[in-house]
Amino acid sequence: MCGIVGVTGNKNATSILVNGLEKLQYRGYDSAGIFVDSKDHKDYLVKTTGSIDDLKKKIGPEVQGTAGIGHTRWATHGGVNIDNAHPQFSDDDRFYLVHNGVIENYEQLKKEYLPNVKFHSQTDTEVAVQLVDKFVTEDGMTTKDAFIKMLSLLKNSSYAFILMDRDDPDTLYAAKNKSPMLIGLCDGFNVVCSDSIAMLDVTDTFLEVVDGDVAIVKPDSVTVLDEKRKPAKRNQFKVTIDPSASDKGTYPYYMLKEIDEQPNVMRKLVKKYFDADGNMNVGCGLMDNILDSDRIYIVGAGTSYHAGLVGKELMEKYTGIPTEVHVSSEFAYEEPLLPKKPFFIFLTQSGETADSREVLVNVNKQHFPSLTITNVANSTLSREATYTMLLNAGPEISVASTKAYTAQIAIQAILAKAVGMRGNRQVAKDFDLGRQLGLVATGMQSIVEEKDKIDEIAKKYFVNAKQAFYIGRGVDYTVSLEAALKLKEISYVHAEGFASGELKHGTIALIEKGTPVIGIITQKKTAGLTHSNLEETAARGANALTIVRQSLAQDGDTFVIPDVDELLTPLLSVIPAQLIAYYTSLNKGLNVDRPRNLAKSVTVE
Ligand code: F6R
Repeated sequence: MCGIVGVTGNKNATSILVNGLEKLQYRGYDSAGIFVDSKDHKDYLVKTTGSIDDLKKKIGPEVQGTAGIGHTRWATHGGVNIDNAHPQFSDDDRFYLVHNGVIENYEQLKKEYLPNVKFHSQTDTEVAVQLVDKFVTEDGMTTKDAFIKMLSLLKNSSYAFILMDRDDPDTLYAAKNKSPMLIGLCDGFNVVCSDSIAMLDVTDTFLEVVDGDVAIVKPDSVTVLDEKRKPAKRNQFKVTIDPSASDKGTYPYYMLKEIDEQPNVMRKLVKKYFDADGNMNVGCGLMDNILDSDRIYIVGAGTSYHAGLVGKELMEKYTGIPTEVHVSSEFAYEEPLLPKKPFFIFLTQSGETADSREVLVNVNKQHFPSLTITNVANSTLSREATYTMLLNAGPEISVASTKAYTAQIAIQAILAKAVGMRGNRQVAKDFDLGRQLGLVATGMQSIVEEKDKIDEIAKKYFVNAKQAFYIGRGVDYTVSLEAALKLKEISYVHAEGFASGELKHGTIALIEKGTPVIGIITQKKTAGLTHSNLEETAARGANALTIVRQSLAQDGDTFVIPDVDELLTPLLSVIPAQLIAYYTSLNKGLNVDRPRNLAKSVTVE
């Protein structure tokens, strides 16, 4: 993962780098660092094992320059310590490098090319910068040629690199393979970044760089070389995001803000995808491509995969096309036998997840059509898929995904209905989705207003729990997977989601006195069964709780959610679970937005 930034030709290089890194912390926050240099050879390296706030405290007023590079880290090779924080540098202190990715053959390169070099870190990255130094100082190559030669030696590796040479600090050498990287074009200076969000304060114009490219970035020019090292013309695009959309406002944590934003996201989606007469704004080419397919494959990771599990039900019901859902990291290396005309849907909040992108690269090689449903316009998966639909959920900053999950489900419902209607299916025509999403928005609002009640539930049952289980059947089972993921990732309570009928086949053995078990009960045909399964856990000492749809509620149910269309109930039933996770984490005194060991955008496989 990790986030990288670079700037050349601006006397405020330090603050541009630090502001950029602040915006990129979602990509990792184990440690951070900057290297700043200027033509008169005053240079500074500042690193910390803390956050960007800690880095700022270490940056004195003297740390100024006209060019620099910066890094925020999610450790892959080597523990979290100052030596392993980036920028990494060569033995003779001439070259400085930041890297997002993994160099798979670094041990072998070390042995083969650098047997006598004393390494000061355990990172794979240091090998790259030491190699450049060797090729320049021992073999007499130019920095550009040495950089290109170093790249040619990397096998099965992912990278976004920015290299600086203290002998020519105004030139940044950048390269990309699999990891995201963009060049920001500014007035009189230029920047490099993992994500446009890092540089929106200085530019809205970005140059795309594709896998295999090298970019030579100077204050007044950018030269891109393709894989054959020939000059290449790449797309420029504008990014328009309201920078204030990523403010936390008066909220203690982004996660709570993002949970609260969900009703509004639903309303925005209705506005965007339905016109005043109820017609749907979904592209005809996209719909025809799906209608022409014999099977739909939904691919995603983590929460996005869970949203896909609901999407499968929606796609099958409304389009009549068989649909499969796959975890991207599994699909990438175990591609199932595909039919003649598959259509791929990639669900990804960030649009950058390496596991999902690996699948898309293979899909593109086979010339199959694809759609990326993402929150980030111009993200890698959006650029590389045939079609894009945007979640329009606004920036999601908390590591735990909330509003992207519900937006992904809503968009899949919109797509399923639109395609079904174009295919002339009565069931799709009868689906009053615009009205239903309105009801969902109102229902979400009523749930988020019950925070005090959920805070009490979290304190009473979860804060001291060793383990917790969510159970359900059908779409309720899929929500139980997402509910459990939320709880474990931010509160560190071991939680699992189970198909409630499966408990008696083994997992019920885990129930101990006081184990919280929450039944999610929203489907008429299975409500009685899940209620009974929950009773069975209570009989073995569990604290049995429920999230139940109003019309199915019984005396003693814990949390009742409003009635909406059955397949849209995940949009509501997930919210108490998101809030339980939030309050459990909060009451345990944890950093809700930045759980340990995680990062928001997972750009390594
Ligand atoms: C969990 C979470 C992750 C992401 C996963 C995929 O709260 O956020 O499981 O859903 O890393 O990320 P995207 O959707 O950006 O591809």
